[in-house]
Amino acid sequence: MTDNFTREINYARISLTDKCNFRCLYCMPECGIEKKQHSDIVSLDNIFDIIKALSELGIKKVRFTGGEPLVRNGAVDLMKKVRDEIPAIKDICITTNGVLLPQYAKELSEIGINGLNISIDSFDPEKYSFITRGGKLDDALKGFKCAKDAGIENIKINAVLLKGINDGSIREFADFGLNNNTEVRFIELMPFSFGNSYDKYGITSKEVIENNSLIKTERDTFTNNTEYYQFSDGAEVGFIRPISNKFCSKCNRIRITADGKMLLCLHRTDEVDLKGSFGKFDELKGLLCEGIKNKPEGHDLCGGNLQTRAMNRIGG
Ligand code: 5AD
Ligand code: SF4
Repeated sequence: MTDNFTREINYARISLTDKCNFRCLYCMPECGIEKKQHSDIVSLDNIFDIIKALSELGIKKVRFTGGEPLVRNGAVDLMKKVRDEIPAIKDICITTNGVLLPQYAKELSEIGINGLNISIDSFDPEKYSFITRGGKLDDALKGFKCAKDAGIENIKINAVLLKGINDGSIREFADFGLNNNTEVRFIELMPFSFGNSYDKYGITSKEVIENNSLIKTERDTFTNNTEYYQFSDGAEVGFIRPISNKFCSKCNRIRITADGKMLLCLHRTDEVDLKGSFGKFDELKGLLCEGIKNKPEGHDLCGGNLQTRAMNRIGG
């Protein structure tokens, strides 16, 4: 279906939990997260119903996010159920930090997962540990390898651009992509109101592109909001530029949070509380439909209007 700005909304990001086995500095406050009551977290059955209703409203792709989606018990069973019972959802993808993939890669491959974005912000173990506040690079690399070995298709590496941390290592990322036949994309750091060090680490893609003398490619940028650039030898990296090249007018997505809200824009506080409608399918579908129609036109990050949820409570 289309929203009030004639954008076709066909993509839903579903956060399965706000918990994570990491504490990335740009994603969560240092002190960790407030514990959610178990009852605040939507059951997997209700998430299934939400996806079913969304599929009837034209959603064709879902991406499971978190926190870290694979820490939620039953996550893979839910994905399998969506695959088996909701054929209108053609694409099922996951965004993960990768560390639990050794455990789940085979199962994910068996259910025919359509894509995996693995977040790796540095290939230097110390920097990686600094950014994730204690994570081990080796664990993520093991996860990446298991996913490849299991035959999962469309595996991408995502890195948040961080000034002074990884902006000098673009070539290293490109080489990793080249050597592993994997797409690598940089996401511009986005500010959040909890204070995620944007002033310290924020850097635009423009600077990085110039510093590395990268050349823009002709590759289509519409599908994933990604612009692709190459080094002179053809090694390629992508940039997702919510700050320096706002793409809200092409936005095709809505988000469902682990506490049962439909979030209409990553950087707006407009939410629809779905909880009261659980168990009443038509009412749920009606709320989702109304929400989609009223999706706001776009973010106003530059005007200083920041999201009050931290990223782990949204899912990216
Ligand atoms: N800015 C940009 N990307 C972010 N992510 C988390 N927080 C931010 C932020 N402040 C990314 C993660 C992951 C995805 C879920 O969102 O690195 O790739
Ligand atoms: Fe966890 Fe991803 Fe947030 Fe890092 S960015 S704390 S891995 S959810």
